[in-house]
Amino acid sequence: MNLLVTGGAGFIGSHFVLRHVQNNPDDQVIVLDLLTYAGDRSYLESVEEQMQFIHGDIADQILVTKIVEDRGIDVIVDFAAETHVDNSISDAAPFLHTNVIGVQSLIEVCKAHPEVLLLHVSTDEVYGGLQDGEQSSTPQSPLNPGNPYSASKAAGDLLIKAAINTYGIRARITRCTNNYGPHQAEEKFLPTIIRTALNDEKIPVYGEGKQKRDWLYVTDHTDAVEAVLEKGKDGEIYLISADSERENIETAKLMLEVLGKSQDLISFVKDRLGHDWRYALDSSSIKALGWEPKVSFEDGIKKTVEWYQGKYTS
Ligand SMILES: NC(=O)c1ccc[n+]([C@@H]2O[C@H](COP(=O)([O-])OP(=O)(O)OC[C@H]3O[C@@H](n4cnc5c(N)ncnc54)[C@H](O)[C@@H]3O)[C@@H](O)[C@H]2O)c1
Repeated sequence: MNLLVTGGAGFIGSHFVLRHVQNNPDDQVIVLDLLTYAGDRSYLESVEEQMQFIHGDIADQILVTKIVEDRGIDVIVDFAAETHVDNSISDAAPFLHTNVIGVQSLIEVCKAHPEVLLLHVSTDEVYGGLQDGEQSSTPQSPLNPGNPYSASKAAGDLLIKAAINTYGIRARITRCTNNYGPHQAEEKFLPTIIRTALNDEKIPVYGEGKQKRDWLYVTDHTDAVEAVLEKGKDGEIYLISADSERENIETAKLMLEVLGKSQDLISFVKDRLGHDWRYALDSSSIKALGWEPKVSFEDGIKKTVEWYQGKYTS
């Protein structure tokens, strides 16, 4: 199989590429990544010989078309995105460029090449925040994004749904809960906790830390994407969750424990504007493909902390 992996130098995309290349040595893997602040080519160093890296923008339709035609691409696995909510609150423009215009560019390429499958990686955040006790979101639940990031992701998802209906493009969408693990950009919650705690600085927790997030170790997410690639159906949406919901304060405390640091480092800061309370997904669609998460939260946190300790202390 010939795969174009967009955003393959980012957090989740890099893990996908590393595992895919290792498990499928006969596949041709091309990575297309704009190398924004969130991308780091060194994550792919160990497989440089087994894939090809192209520096570029998914919104560049001419470039994507050329890659698809020259390389006989069968599947585009789309991880390319702007992903940090706080950045979207300060400036939504890059989010609209990549998460909306970029997605439409991939759709245009798929329209012209109807044999190509587009596997688009999306997020639980498109459903907006849920209250405690509210039912988990299903693939059919209405989208109700609560910030510019999730609105741009919802727009991308809807454009794909519309293109399936209008042009009959081949596409599958995955929506996953919060990921954690090595390679995540420094600004995100867990890397921020580790970095600041290692420096014995106060770790910032929004509001009272009562918001809940459902955590999935990054390679469990990429395994789920592989399952959708292998066994999923065109036109379907798959929801990926380990049902591992925790209050942010609980997560911060566990990280400090693993780091051997005092709980006194926790400091509550002014809440994020429009901060979603919790997300919850009904994961029966992905479990029906035989996927189960393999990494417990405790083990995943240990692996994550070890990786960042290496990064920040080397
Ligand atoms: N991180 C999470 O917790 C999480 C959870 C659920 C879903 N997702 C989704 O998974 C996908 C990947 O998320 P991530 O956390 O790995 O993101 P990330 O921010 O770590 O990486 C994004 C990658 O995309 C690249 N990129 C950005 N704009 C591009 C463009 N125009 N053209 C080509 N490349 C571009 C960046 O250089 C980077 O390598 C996103 O669609 C995100 O919405 C993430």
